[in-house]
This record gives sequence, structure tokens and C-alpha cells, in this order.
Amino acid sequence: MLTIEQLSLAFGRNEPVLEDVDLTLEPGRFMSLIGPSGCGKSTLLRAVTGLQRPSSGRVHLNVERKHVAFLFQDDALLPWRSARDNVALGLRNQGRSKRAARAIADEWLAAVGLDGFGDRWPRQLSGGQRKRVAIAQCLALQPRLLLMDEPFASLDAIVRHYLTSDLLNWVERERLTVLMVTHDLEEAIALSDQVVLLGNGPRAHIKGRFDVPLERPRDLVQVRTDPRFTALAQQLWRALSEEVAPLASGIGRPALKVVNE
Ligand SMILES: Nc1ncnc2c1ncn2[C@@H]1O[C@H](COP(=O)(O)OP(=O)(O)O)[C@@H](O)[C@H]1O
Ligand SMILES: [Mg+2]
Repeated sequence: MLTIEQLSLAFGRNEPVLEDVDLTLEPGRFMSLIGPSGCGKSTLLRAVTGLQRPSSGRVHLNVERKHVAFLFQDDALLPWRSARDNVALGLRNQGRSKRAARAIADEWLAAVGLDGFGDRWPRQLSGGQRKRVAIAQCLALQPRLLLMDEPFASLDAIVRHYLTSDLLNWVERERLTVLMVTHDLEEAIALSDQVVLLGNGPRAHIKGRFDVPLERPRDLVQVRTDPRFTALAQQLWRALSEEVAPLASGIGRPALKVVNE
């Protein structure tokens, strides 16, 4: 579905953020990308979306652009459109009539648990509800590849649990292929078939690929108590710590000048 070959990416004349990144995502697989903060995860995802041009190497998408959907941390709902019209927007762009787009939007709003919320403005919805609208917006387009960048990071634990669990059901039902950036190791393991560790930057490259040895479908609560889950969590934690350690030790006390007042 997606192949990244020898991708390097630099902003302007700076040292490259990413160097020689290789990645293959097979159809129907759920891959998570983890790594230290600032190492280039979002940049890599933006390169996949085409929003960011690589300096060298290539991204090959074996799926039409219109079948690729993005879900980002900050939802991109238009404040001056109702929930329904936000969902309908992408469908209109796909060439549907206004009436058909709105009808499909209502079905998807109901499917994400927002039946009857179509007339609400984004500001009249909670964070979790807005996220559901954004999910409906994505799924209504019937994507085959879903790209997510820390989509649930700003939500509280309970909302997050229900949303991820629903999302996993949709992913399985629709046989979606997913590439998700997250900083949450346990979320990465619970949801994915494979977890990929991007190393410390600059010149970050892939430091490890970990297959998740847990069968699907999964119960997101149960799965965390599985010994295979905890073993992998420890392994990932150690691998990530090795990448983060040089950064963490760099945070010292600022050399403050003592000023006599
Ligand atoms: N548009 C940009 N221009 C210059 N530097 C950028 C830009 N976007 C990101 N960077 C730099 O690239 C690095 C990786 O950023 P990012 O991909 O957002 O990291 P992550 O998502 O892993 O936290 C950081 O050092 C960041 O400062
Ligand atoms: Mg990021």
C-alpha cells in the first residue's frame, strides 16, 4: 500500500531531519511510528501525504490520493460549518450532490455516536465529540489508507479509550490500512501489527521494527494484561530510552548569572 525508499528530508540548509528512511506498509496492516519528541515523525507523515517534499528518496503510494485520509491531533473542523456540513464537505469535493452528501454525513455522524448532532456548530461540541466528527469526516470518504498523527493526544483517558476502541472496530470492519504516529507505547502495541521506532534526530532513521504477536480482533482492556503485551512494552521502552537518553541528559540547569539587586 505504501513504500518509502531511502527517504531523506532537510528543511532549507539545515542538517537533514530524516536520513535513509525505508518503510513498507502492506494492505490491511496497522503500523505505528514511535520515537523521541522532535525526531521527525510528523515530518515523515507529511512526506507521505505529499505536504512535504523529500530532499531525496521516494514515497510510493499504491492507492489513489482520494482514498487516503488524514486524522491529525488538532481537528480541522471549519468553525462556520455545522457538524453535518463539515462531514459533507469532503463528499461534495468527491462530486456528490449536496443532498446526497448531507444524507451520508448524517449516517456517519450516527455511526460515530453523534446521531442528532448534525446541526451543532463545532464550538458547541466537546473535544471528544469534535474528534468523532473528524473521524466521521475521514471514514465517510471510504479511505483505504488512514494516516494519523497523535490523533487522540489531547483527550482524557476514558474518551480516548472509547474512541480508540471504536476506531479499531472500524479499521477491522473496513479492512483499513493504517499508519499512526503516537508517543504512547502502549497505545501503539494495543492497536498495531507492527511498531516502528524512529531514532533520535537529526538524520533520524529507523532503529527498530517490532511485530506485535497478538491476534486480532483485540479487546483493548484485556490485551494489556497479556504477558506478550507486557514483554513487548518493556522491550520498546528500553529501545526508546536508548534514543531519548542523550536528549534527556542534555537538559541541565541553565547557567544563571547572579544579579545583585
Ligand atoms: N517547517 C519546518 N521548518 C523547519 N524545521 C522544521 C519544520 N517542521 C519541523 N521541523 C523540525 O524538524 C524536526 C522534526 O519535527 P517533527 O517532525 O515535528 O517531530 P516529531 O513529530 O517527531 O515530534 C524538529 O527538529 C523540528 O524543529
Ligand atoms: Mg509530531
